[in-house]
Parts: sequence; structure tokens; C-alpha cells
Amino acid sequence: MDKAKLESIAKKIMTPGCGILAADESTGTIKKRFDSIGVESTPETRNGYREMLFRTPGFGEHVSGVILFDEQLRADGSDGTPLRQIIEDAGSVPGIKVDKGAKDLASAPGEKVAEGLDGLRERFAEYAELGAGFAKWRAVIDIADGIPTQYCIDTNAHALARYAALSQEAGIVPIVEPEVLMDGAHDIDRCFEVTEAVLNALYDELFAQRIFLEGSLLKPNMVIAGKRSPKQASAEEVAGKTVQCLKRAVPAAVTGIVFLSGGQSEEEATAHLNAMNASHDLPWPLSFSYGRALQQAALQAWQGKDENWAAAQRAFAHRAKMNGLAAKGEWNVGLEKAA
Ligand code: 13P
Repeated sequence: MDKAKLESIAKKIMTPGCGILAADESTGTIKKRFDSIGVESTPETRNGYREMLFRTPGFGEHVSGVILFDEQLRADGSDGTPLRQIIEDAGSVPGIKVDKGAKDLASAPGEKVAEGLDGLRERFAEYAELGAGFAKWRAVIDIADGIPTQYCIDTNAHALARYAALSQEAGIVPIVEPEVLMDGAHDIDRCFEVTEAVLNALYDELFAQRIFLEGSLLKPNMVIAGKRSPKQASAEEVAGKTVQCLKRAVPAAVTGIVFLSGGQSEEEATAHLNAMNASHDLPWPLSFSYGRALQQAALQAWQGKDENWAAAQRAFAHRAKMNGLAAKGEWNVGLEKAA
């Protein structure tokens, strides 16, 4: 394992004022996003939309890494330049989503396990050749009556650690993503309890499977009430509880933590990240690895039309800049209005 290389990639991704653009929507998920604006999902639109984002002027100022889906890691832009090269030329690191999605977990009604370990060593060898500097594996933990079970938590933690070990063996920084979903009606304290249990199981497994923590990143959910909960928490409470939960469970040796947005609005995701960085002493840098919370406004501005490239890029650049400020605790809502 090339520890120096792993740690240096992880540190580059955690450059102050920068974070990750999660543009690794699977073919099924990007179709849903395109359906919302009435655009057909074809290889041309899937690649063209991503090319538009990656060619945003100043892209690398706040985006230090981009997670790609397999199709885009192999795809070229309109002038024949590989998309991964466009990302690197902007000063950002291309990464790759490697899990094969969440499938029903046997004997556990309502629960999922992320699959994709078979053949993963060989896939990693190819991804390393294609220039991926980091990878992502997302496990999904749902909260509802009687779930999650410890069985589901442990099975997903074990798979995340097996993935992380293979990733580090290939010289690729693993991002471990155990996402506790915010779809339910649960309150913030239930999210805290489940997130803490999930992170404890995860770091037990990462230790057992000899993961080099300095050469890894964590992509967690924030500790937040379910979307259908009548009791929504303030930004200060989300920030305070998220930091408390992470401090209990995540070793200080981990090089950085980059949150998913998970269905928060764009501004909420920024406000929550900012509140954590502005008001708390932290053992690791906290930044973003947002999908929806970086792309919603850009997708709306784009509408599938080439003539809207500049407007969509402006919308994207604005969100990237706001989140870059939040990663330093320097954002405030007035900056949104000013823009
Ligand atoms: P969201 O920020 O839209 O949750 O996406 C992040 C991600 O990569 C989920 O795996």
C-alpha cells in the first residue's frame, strides 16, 4: 500500500475552501433528474450535462474532487477531451463510484445492502489506469419502525471495509459512505442514535480490516430530523448534534469528512455545514460532497439547452462558492441574497 500517495490525495481533496461534486448519479438516477426538467436521458445528454458542469469557469477553485459514474470516467467531451482530463485540467481530482447499488438484504424486510465486491480488485486496477484518484461506496441505512437492525448495520459496515481495503491496495483513496436516510418521520435524536451506531460499527470494521485511516475519507449524513418529522431542528442544533456524534465515533486520524446532502435544500445544506465550521472546534476538516445540493439550480437553469450553458454554469459556480465559504465557516445568508 502506498500510504504517502493515499494521504496526499486525501489532503488535496480537503484543501481549505474546497469540497467534492458528486456527479456519479447512476443511469437510473440521472434519468429521474432529467425527467424533472423534461430532458431525455441519452449518452449524449448524460455526458454533455456533466461536461457543462466541469467546464464552469473557475471550477477548481472550490471543487477539489468529482465523483463520476463508470460511463463518465470513460467518456469524452464534445471536443474529444476525456471528461476526466477536463476535471484534472481544472485542478480537481477525478473519482469513481464503485458500488453496484443497494439491493434487498436477505432475511431483513425493508433493509438494503450495497453490492459490488465481486471482481472489485480487477475493476480497481482498471480505474487506477483510467486515472481515478479516489472512490466511493455508498451503503444505505433506513430508519423506520424496528429498523435498522444490527444485522443490516454490521453487514454494510463489513462490505464498506472490504471495499476500502481493495481501494487502498490499488492506490485509490476510499470514501466510505454510510448514509442514514432522512426520508422518515423520525426526530433528530433518533437520527443521532442510529448514526452513532452505524459509525461505531464502521470504524470497528475499518480497524479490523487494516484500513489506513489517514488515506481515507468519510462521507456521512448530517444528524437531522426525518423529512416527514413534524419537529424540524434549527441549523445550530443540526450542527451541534452532528459534530457531537462524529466526535464520539470518528478517529481524529481520518483526513477529512465530506457530507452528503441527502435531500436537504441547497441553502440548508450550506447553512448546516457553515454552522459546524463557524462554531465548533474540530479534529478533522469538514466539507461537502454534495450531489443534489450543488446541482439543483444548475439543472433548472440548463433545461437541456446548449444556449443555457452560461446561466447553468453561473448557478453552479455560485453554489460551489457558497459551499466553499461554508467549509471555512465564512458563509452567511446575505451572500445568497447579494448574488
Ligand atoms: P446527495 O448530496 O444528493 O445526497 O448526493 C451525494 C451522494 O453522492 C450520494 O451518494
